[in-house]
Amino acid sequence: MLNQFQSLDRFLIEHQAYWRFEPFFDSVQPDLLWHEVNPDLCQWLESLSPQQISAYKQNNKALVDDMADHLSCIRAIETWTTIAQSQRVGLTLPRGVDNGVPGRKLEQILAMGETVIGDHHGREWLEWCSGKGFLGRILASHTQQKVTSFEYQQTLCESGQKEADRQGLAMHFVQGDALSEQASQAFHSEQHAVALHACGDLHVSLIQHATKKKLPAITLSPCCYHLVSSEHYQALSKLGQASDLALTRQELRIPLQETVTGGERVKRHRIEEMTFRLGFDLLLRDVTGNQVYQPVPSIKKSALALGFEAFCRWASEQKGVGLPRLDYAHYEQLGSTRYWQMERMSLVQQPFRRALEIWLVIDKALYLQERGYQVTLSEFCCRDTTPRNLLIHAVKR
Ligand SMILES: C[S@@+](CC[C@H](N)C(=O)[O-])C[C@H]1O[C@@H](n2cnc3c(N)ncnc32)[C@H](O)[C@@H]1O
Repeated sequence: MLNQFQSLDRFLIEHQAYWRFEPFFDSVQPDLLWHEVNPDLCQWLESLSPQQISAYKQNNKALVDDMADHLSCIRAIETWTTIAQSQRVGLTLPRGVDNGVPGRKLEQILAMGETVIGDHHGREWLEWCSGKGFLGRILASHTQQKVTSFEYQQTLCESGQKEADRQGLAMHFVQGDALSEQASQAFHSEQHAVALHACGDLHVSLIQHATKKKLPAITLSPCCYHLVSSEHYQALSKLGQASDLALTRQELRIPLQETVTGGERVKRHRIEEMTFRLGFDLLLRDVTGNQVYQPVPSIKKSALALGFEAFCRWASEQKGVGLPRLDYAHYEQLGSTRYWQMERMSLVQQPFRRALEIWLVIDKALYLQERGYQVTLSEFCCRDTTPRNLLIHAVKR
C-alpha cells in the first residue's frame, strides 16, 4: 500500500490540470481549459454530441477507452482503482430482522454484515454513527453478541432501540456526539467497531478512538469526505501528511460527483436546474457588469416547471437585483450551451474521481497500519447498490 499510495500521489499531482477544476464555474470560459496544453483532447471533447456525453457519463470504461487516445495518462488509473470484492460468507436473515429497512440499504447492510461476520474479531460490536442500527441488527441476530449503536439523533436512537427490543436483540443505543471528547467512552478493547457510511470527520474520529483504545478490529466504509471542519484535508498517515496534494474541502467533493443512482426524472431535473442556473449567471453578469459568480439559493424542483423566465425573476429577487426587459430565450439557450460545456469538462475529471477516493482511503489504511493493524481494502458491494462501496478492514496484529 505504501508503494501504491506514493505512485498514486505522484500521478495525481503530475496530472492535476485534468481534475483540479470546477466544471460549473470554469464552463464560463469560452475555451476548454486544456486548449493550449492538449488541443487534441479539446477537439475530441468539442466533437461530442450531448447524447455521446450522456452515454460516457454512464459508462466510465468506454470513456477511458476512447479518451485515452487523447489523454494517455488516464489508462494508468485502473492500476489503483481495481479493488478486489469483499469475501462474503452468505447469510439468511431471520424473519423480521429487515423490518423497515429500505431496499438499497438492505443490500448494503447484508453485504457489509456478511463481510464483517466472516472476519470478526472481539466479543462485542460497536456500530458507529448507526442511524437506526440496521447493520447492528444483523450483527446482533447472527452472532448473539452485544451491539452498542452510537448515534447523534435521539429520535433514531429511540426508534432503533424500540425495534431491537421488539425483536429481542442485544442492542443498546447510546446517544452522543462522535466529535466530542466523551465519545471515547463508547469504545473498549473487546469490540469490533463497524461503520457503514460515516461521513468525513465522523469516520476519522472512529479511527482515532478505536486505535487509541486498541480495538481488535475496525471495519468501515467512508463517505462524504468533504464533511470536515478544516478548510483542507487533514491527512492521517505519515505519507499522507508528507504529500503536496493539499486537497481543499471543495476538492473533497470530487469523489462524490457521480450519478450512479437516480432515474430519468432525476437526470432531467438536474439538466433543467443546471441550465437555468448557468443561464441566469450569464444574464446577471450582463445586467450588473459584475463578473463574479453570485450564488443562488436552492429551489423546489416543482418551481422549475414554471420555466426559465420565472426562475430568473425569482433568483433576481433573491439577489435584490431589478431586471430590465430581456430576451430570456436567448439566455436560456446560452445556459443550455454552457451546460453541455460543463458536462464536457466533467468527462475529463470523471476517471480521476475514483483515484482521488482511493488516495483518501489508502491514507486511512496506512494510518491503521502505522497503529499496528493488518489492513485490507475491498469493495463490499457493486457500485449500483452504492458508489460509496469501499471497505477498510483492519485487524489488530
Ligand atoms: C450517512 S448516515 C449513516 C447511518 C447508518 N450507518 C446507515 O448506513 O444507515 C450518518 C449517520 O451519522 C449520524 N451522525 C451525524 N453526526 C453525528 C455525530 N456528530 N455523532 C454521532 N452520529 C452522527 C447521523 O445522524 C446519521 O445517522
